[in-house]
Amino acid sequence: MDESLSEWLRRRESADAVARSSAVTRAAVDALPGGEALRILDLATGRGSNIRFLAGRLPGPQQWLAVDRSPALLDSLREVMTAWGEARGCRVRNEASRYGIRGVDMACDIETREVDLGRLDRDEIFVGRHLVTASALLDLVSESWLQALAARCRDVGAVGLFTITYNGRCACVPAEPEDDMVRDLMNLHQKGDKGLGGPAAGPDASACAERSFLDVGYRVRREPSDWVLTSEDADVQRTLIEGWAEAATEMGPDRGSVISDWRARRLAHVDAGRSRLTVGHDDLAAWPTRG
Ligand SMILES: C[S@@+](CC[C@H](N)C(=O)[O-])C[C@H]1O[C@@H](n2cnc3c(N)ncnc32)[C@H](O)[C@@H]1O
Repeated sequence: MDESLSEWLRRRESADAVARSSAVTRAAVDALPGGEALRILDLATGRGSNIRFLAGRLPGPQQWLAVDRSPALLDSLREVMTAWGEARGCRVRNEASRYGIRGVDMACDIETREVDLGRLDRDEIFVGRHLVTASALLDLVSESWLQALAARCRDVGAVGLFTITYNGRCACVPAEPEDDMVRDLMNLHQKGDKGLGGPAAGPDASACAERSFLDVGYRVRREPSDWVLTSEDADVQRTLIEGWAEAATEMGPDRGSVISDWRARRLAHVDAGRSRLTVGHDDLAAWPTRG
């Protein structure tokens, strides 16, 4: 399970990086305080793609706390970050769950910690944080989890940056007659309980997060961060089509054979290099109104 998730996170990392909204990243960066090392919390960090994206875009020295429930993913985060730092000519110091990456324009200390985020009741991970961030997480969590997240950020005055949240919109080219039916079943599946505070907000997560932060008095900027996957992203497309077919069949078992035919046709489009999938995501920055 961890191995296939790790492979999926590896495959999607560049698609995520291309899709992310630079305006939303900028809004979060502009709201951060200056003058001291930034203390950042990366929730459900996986193998750390959010850290690799942000490290060069956030100012000054950075102290990261990267949490996830999966020790295997945290191990691979350490390996991937080490290789990433070395490829940039940085000195990498590696001591079990704490390590540092030092380069001409980078000074990051990263601590990894195994944490189950099912309940957002671990005060200590939030205390003192300037930035709380997560990538590809919010659609997995419940509405009450999002409200708790906004309250946690407000309690410590942290800026929030939450990216690549699936918003329920997908478009497939060339079109197949069952595309919308599969998408609707898959969106229903997205609302199942993922162990993060109850039934997931799924496609509504981004709007829900926006409301939650506005309710605690934050300002919010939300922009699209869609994947537009072409023949260059054939592996990501194949994994998505397999995943959509599986989720749709789970929700509509009586339509299993129709979905299986749909899957075969969609995969044939990918193999022929003519498939293009657009997957809707949102990025959101939220920051306290100061003064
Ligand atoms: C879609 S992945 C995103 C990973 C990473 N942020 C990225 O963008 O590559 C979701 C992550 O949530 C983590 N996760 C799921 N449920 C969790 C829980 N209850 N507590 C902590 N982490 C959890 C998974 O282990 C996985 O790393």
